[in-house]
Amino acid sequence: MADKQLTAPLIYAVSVAAIGSLQFGYNTGVINAPEKIIRGFYNRTLSQRSGEPTSPELLTSLWSLSVAIFSVGGMIGSFSVGLFVNRFGRRNSMLLVNVLAFIGGALMALSKYSNEVSPTGLRGAFGTLNQLGIVIGILVAQIFGLKEILGTEALWPLLLGLTIVPAVMQCVALLFCPESPRFLLINKMEEEKAQTVLQKLRGTQDVSQDILEMKEESAKMSQEKKVTIPELFRSPNYRQAIMISITLQLSQQLSGINAVFYYSTGIFERAGIKEPVYATIGAGAVNTVFTVVSLFLVERAGRRTLHLVGLGGMAVCAAIMTVALALKEQWIRYISIVATFGFVALFEIGPGPIPWFIVAELFSQGPRPAAMAVAGCSNWTSNFLVGMLFPYAEKLCGPYVFLIFLAFLVIFFVFTYFKVPETKGRTFEDISRGFEEQVERQSPPSPPTENTEKNPMVEMNNIEPEKEAA
Ligand code: GLC
Repeated sequence: MADKQLTAPLIYAVSVAAIGSLQFGYNTGVINAPEKIIRGFYNRTLSQRSGEPTSPELLTSLWSLSVAIFSVGGMIGSFSVGLFVNRFGRRNSMLLVNVLAFIGGALMALSKYSNEVSPTGLRGAFGTLNQLGIVIGILVAQIFGLKEILGTEALWPLLLGLTIVPAVMQCVALLFCPESPRFLLINKMEEEKAQTVLQKLRGTQDVSQDILEMKEESAKMSQEKKVTIPELFRSPNYRQAIMISITLQLSQQLSGINAVFYYSTGIFERAGIKEPVYATIGAGAVNTVFTVVSLFLVERAGRRTLHLVGLGGMAVCAAIMTVALALKEQWIRYISIVATFGFVALFEIGPGPIPWFIVAELFSQGPRPAAMAVAGCSNWTSNFLVGMLFPYAEKLCGPYVFLIFLAFLVIFFVFTYFKVPETKGRTFEDISRGFEEQVERQSPPSPPTENTEKNPMVEMNNIEPEKEAA
């Protein structure tokens, strides 16, 4: 049970880290409601400057760039995370990130921090807290975007600028946060300090199990050479795990979720819905509620199952959305809202939270920084592409635009079914050993005997989590 011990210092540390996620979410959600107003502003400014009316093409390009550009920060940020957190520590990196206003993707470091201070039995739930921060950020931004609050001609710059508030909040709160014990022990070799922090976080004097697990990881790390990004792809020990990590990130973004979070107000408006902003806020609220549901499900049902249910369900909702948007009958418009809510809810069951923390579960400390960088960059690049290209795709395909995402969802469902192992309740070491054994087993052409021999991944999925069995 010590494995699931929740203490006040632990909750504090993880919540402070989640403020970074709040900021990520705020910047995702903030651009949706004031689309018309900001476009109007672009239009007027450009026409005034050039003395000619602005072309709709130029406006669309400018707008989609404005929406998507913050993901570029994410791409750069995800590559520098490893550098920062290993040199300055997890906590100080978060401080630095805020000071430098390195907003977007460098905040990835925070989900990593939560993972590192969490006991194995709570890793999924705490990983999901990162997502909870994001979705609350989106919802807050959507509400602030109402024309009664900040979504007005005069106040929209303030709406965008408000993102510094969580940065300040986090800087202050971080002063009272301990450094990650994993960093202290493994990177700094300061065992005593690591132990003191752990005792505080776990609320017990006996932290020998945690220390032992970290030491094993550290011993293994010193045997492994430092893994670089090209090696991740070259070495058969990592290749499968890195492919899975990238594909899970792509499945999150190419599901089309951010087409909804960046552009739903416009989509609903074109579907003939009056007051589309409220439908957008509705989507944000459903998003938040289902992230909380996922928080409870993730340690029960397992990551793989939830990811499958999420992707499959989203595919069904995307089909219903397409029909509803295409028919445009008075009553059926509202079905498009319900289907969008379903789409968002199912996203949060699996594809929302899981890709963010599963990378840290698939790799041990040695290759982890490189893997996080690659995964983070895949996520932000695909996020950028969806943000940038959706308006053009919508112009081209009209109400059928969600069929593109439907196709991706089906492909990722099949991939997850065949390739993704369960990681719930297993230690980092155990999981990476699973991949290595699989490689060893695959290399000599052994004659097929039992059915598990044919599909080693199925066997991995069936491994009973040690800790849960105990
Ligand atoms: C995930 C995605 C993010 C998306 C959010 C929606 O965190 O990474 O891009 O906006 O979910 O809830």
